[in-house]
Amino acid sequence: MPAPLRNDTFLRACLRQPTDYTPVWLMRQAGRYLPEYRTTRARAGSFMGLATDPALATEVTLQPLERYALDAAILFSDILTVPDAMGLGLSFAAGEGPRFAHPVRDEAAVARLAVPDLDRLRYVFDAVASIRRALDGRVPLIGFSGSPWTLACYMVEGAGSDDYRLVKTMLYARPDLMHRMLAINADAVAAYLNAQIDAGAQAVMLFDSWGGVLADDAFRTFSLAYTERVLQRLQRERDGVRIPHIVFTKGGGLWLEAIADTGPDVVGVDWTVDLGAARARIGGRVALQGNLDPAVLFAGPAQIAAEATRVVERFGAPLAADGACAGHIFNLGHGINQHTPPEHVSVLVDTVHEASRRVRLRAASGASRT
Ligand code: CP3
Repeated sequence: MPAPLRNDTFLRACLRQPTDYTPVWLMRQAGRYLPEYRTTRARAGSFMGLATDPALATEVTLQPLERYALDAAILFSDILTVPDAMGLGLSFAAGEGPRFAHPVRDEAAVARLAVPDLDRLRYVFDAVASIRRALDGRVPLIGFSGSPWTLACYMVEGAGSDDYRLVKTMLYARPDLMHRMLAINADAVAAYLNAQIDAGAQAVMLFDSWGGVLADDAFRTFSLAYTERVLQRLQRERDGVRIPHIVFTKGGGLWLEAIADTGPDVVGVDWTVDLGAARARIGGRVALQGNLDPAVLFAGPAQIAAEATRVVERFGAPLAADGACAGHIFNLGHGINQHTPPEHVSVLVDTVHEASRRVRLRAASGASRT
């Protein structure tokens, strides 16, 4: 029997229920900006050595929670575990990004693709179960996957890319192949996330990190349609408890309504979006997650506090005077940069908690005067 949750602020905000303050967690909160992460990673020998060892993955997942008053933990893993399990041969060379030994570049390679045997991802589900035990009800655990489109970018390019030339060539020249790959990815991602939920993930997030590189029509056809296919297949509840679904499309600010239409509980937004405007557009239907520019964390404590307060105030008090409740989960607009000074993150987290309590108090006293 898992321990009862002692801090459900994050889950409540995802479901647009009232909270005493705005919950906060940070994309890539366990990572290279933390010296203790670098120590554990050195012990593991490689990124994949770390990710495939449930005890070490548990250790690094909890590291940021020891330092900061974060309201959620995120599974330590990577989005590229799924194509790796499909047989593409993932490696991370030191100081470089990810690389696949067998990228998917032609019809024969697409024909060989299949939803992987989930047993090949057992280490991820074991990590989820181990992290849940170690958290002991402290905060909820978020599971995650790449979106079908974002996975396809890496599968075709074979690595990160500046121009997405190979994957966009396939998209325009052979849309039939792209659709086949995306359908397989969607089914793999849905099965993968459902297995994370079975293992104990209390919310799940889809990272559509490269949705924003697509033309409008291509985004709807090749990214959004497959995000929707994943969401339709996800478990909504586990043991009678709702499992919030989060979709984050970097560069997706133009498409907020369309993203909300795919049916997630939460839409993540990057820093190009004004949270007040985003709330007016879709805040009645979904909670919002975001959206401080990670570069703010390079400035000094006073500027970090000012910028974080501005983000909290742009969203405003979640509970409106008419009793309707919106939801905001504070996050960065993208992953935390590896050169971030760790002590700056404390300023950010504490400011979000304090500023959001003030915003609520101010709204409540304003409402009681009218
Ligand atoms: O957020 C967390 O703390 C959980 C762990 C997590 C990692 N990757 C660990 C990681 C998560 C959620 C991811 C997601 C991920 N991975 C995304 C989507 C989010 C985004 O940033 O848009 C993407 C595109 C990837 C692919 C990936 N993995 C790249 C491009 C790289 C290398 C570049 C980089 O930033 O380091 C990775 C490696 C990786 N994944 C690291 C970590 C901590 C660093 C590797 C190391 O320790 O050597």
